[in-house]
Amino acid sequence: MSLSYATAAGMSSTLTVSLFLVVALADSSHSTRRTLRSWLNPDCDDTCRGRNVTTLHLGADGPNDTLHYLWDFIGNPSVLLALTPPSTSLNISWEDYLARQDKSLHFSEKPVYTFGVIINKIIEFNDVNDTAMINTADVANTNVLHLEYFKWQRVSLTQNSEFVTLDMEGNSYHDTAKNIRRYGSIKLSLRGFCTLDHSDMVPHMLHTENSTQIDIILDHLQTNETFSNSRFAIELLVVGGGDPEILMFVDPKKSLDDEHTPGIFEIVEVRTPPYRELDGALNGGAYLQWRPVSYNSASRDVTSSTETMQYPPRKVFNYTSAVKNSMLYCYYGNETNLLLQKLTISLGSKGDGFYKKTNYSTWTFIVGYGTPPEERFSSLVIMIISIGLGLPLLIMVITGLYLCIRRMPKRHGNVYLSR
Ligand SMILES: *[C@@H]1O[C@H](CO)[C@@H](O)[C@H](O)[C@H]1NC(C)=O
Ligand SMILES: *[C@@H]1O[C@H](CO)[C@@H](O)[C@H](O)[C@H]1NC(C)=O
Ligand SMILES: *[C@@H]1O[C@H](CO)[C@@H](O)[C@H](O)[C@H]1NC(C)=O
Ligand SMILES: *[C@@H]1O[C@H](CO)[C@@H](O)[C@H](O)[C@H]1NC(C)=O
Ligand SMILES: *[C@@H]1O[C@H](CO)[C@@H](O)[C@H](O)[C@H]1NC(C)=O
Ligand SMILES: *[C@@H]1O[C@H](CO)[C@@H](O)[C@H](O)[C@H]1NC(C)=O
Ligand SMILES: *[C@@H]1O[C@H](CO)[C@@H](O)[C@H](O)[C@H]1NC(C)=O
Ligand SMILES: *[C@@H]1O[C@H](CO)[C@@H](O)[C@H](O)[C@H]1NC(C)=O
Ligand SMILES: *[C@@H]1O[C@H](CO)[C@@H](O)[C@H](O)[C@H]1NC(C)=O
Repeated sequence: MSLSYATAAGMSSTLTVSLFLVVALADSSHSTRRTLRSWLNPDCDDTCRGRNVTTLHLGADGPNDTLHYLWDFIGNPSVLLALTPPSTSLNISWEDYLARQDKSLHFSEKPVYTFGVIINKIIEFNDVNDTAMINTADVANTNVLHLEYFKWQRVSLTQNSEFVTLDMEGNSYHDTAKNIRRYGSIKLSLRGFCTLDHSDMVPHMLHTENSTQIDIILDHLQTNETFSNSRFAIELLVVGGGDPEILMFVDPKKSLDDEHTPGIFEIVEVRTPPYRELDGALNGGAYLQWRPVSYNSASRDVTSSTETMQYPPRKVFNYTSAVKNSMLYCYYGNETNLLLQKLTISLGSKGDGFYKKTNYSTWTFIVGYGTPPEERFSSLVIMIISIGLGLPLLIMVITGLYLCIRRMPKRHGNVYLSR
């Protein structure tokens, strides 16, 4: 914004002044705000002391409702989103919660809508033929890593009324069931927002006041030495309100410009099936959204970017075994009739040198309630387009006028002379 103002101020023609007005008008569109309040391990004193427990409760208060988010790292990392009437409080029975008992987490008033995502698995696959496509049926060429087997620790936490960020790091993978250990780490970074804006972290996702961003980094994660061309994929498990019989809708869209994510003109949107509320209103539910890009270095520039690939959502039938070791079981318990589907996203594209090229891969996505935001042209782009189209037009008009004016007196002169 300041850049376009500065540019506008720099050029003092009437054209830029009028463009400046257009820009100012385009930007003054109203956007809603929420006020954030957050608590780490709310009301857990003695029980949590001495244990490395990380459960963050984030309340985003709007005028007529509150959106609650819970970010949890006990068992499989998961996020719960709940829309409740204002001044609804959260009640966690910590002993039961830590033992992953059902209904150990509840709200003082029944939420209008709830939705949860579990980061369920990291799947390593041996991409023998460099297709960048995972084939989960090829068991010999895939390894499954369960996130509950990482040792999670809090790296940083920032809490204020405008944004909340939590950075977590998982290390020392040890699959106790199969006795498999791996070195390397997985970094999860969660952000909560209060208004519509672009995130400050590449790929600069557009978020609303109703969304939360999750960034995943696989940093020097040990690969299976029998695999020559390892790549990783991430499996998410989506649980919540919505018709369980209908598959989620995956919609890869072309976006208008790549101003915020250089080189990437696509955005992938996943919508939960809409459903009827008790009062008959149709609820659009929640969405996931991401740019199909993965970076293979911490600088996250165009040269270090590769693609991601998503696969059709699949229904999961065994609810209890899928959800049991996560916070979502503490909330939903044995509830039936829930949407329960898995979604797989693989990182990398043909010819990018596989994971071993840098041993670093990222993926960033947004989880939100309501309608996914549409990327709009920014004021800078509007201004560049306006100058690009407006300036030649203005020059044509001025030239035309000039030619007309120059010709007019000549003809008058001729008329005089011929008299
Ligand atoms: C908690 O995390 C710290 C820092 O990683 C570690 O030193 C400590 O041993 C952990 N405590 C427990 C009980 O796991
Ligand atoms: C909140 O409720 C009031 C009164 O019902 C309504 O006028 C207003 O539009 C609502 N605000 C939002 C953001 O939904
Ligand atoms: C939380 O829930 C428990 C059990 O349902 C109840 O005994 C307790 O009073 C509740 N606490 C608050 C603060 O509501
Ligand atoms: C790789 O390609 C070869 C030859 O086309 C094929 O036989 C083999 O099944 C492929 N391997 C995988 C894992 O897709
Ligand atoms: C490597 O893959 C093979 C075959 O899938 C598996 O038996 C083995 O346990 C894996 N090793 C590790 C360290 O994951
Ligand atoms: C669901 O999973 C549990 C635990 O893994 C298992 O005992 C049960 O048989 C499974 N049920 C079905 C229908 O597959
Ligand atoms: C939920 O299911 C588990 C496993 O099937 C069972 O042990 C538990 O008693 C059930 N809880 C309720 C409240 O039905
Ligand atoms: C990535 O890790 C593999 C296995 O540990 C190693 O052979 C390779 O040299 C590493 N690549 C880079 C760029 O560090
Ligand atoms: C955010 O959630 C509220 C529900 O409280 C909804 O009215 C609003 O439309 C949502 N905003 C967006 C951008 O979806």
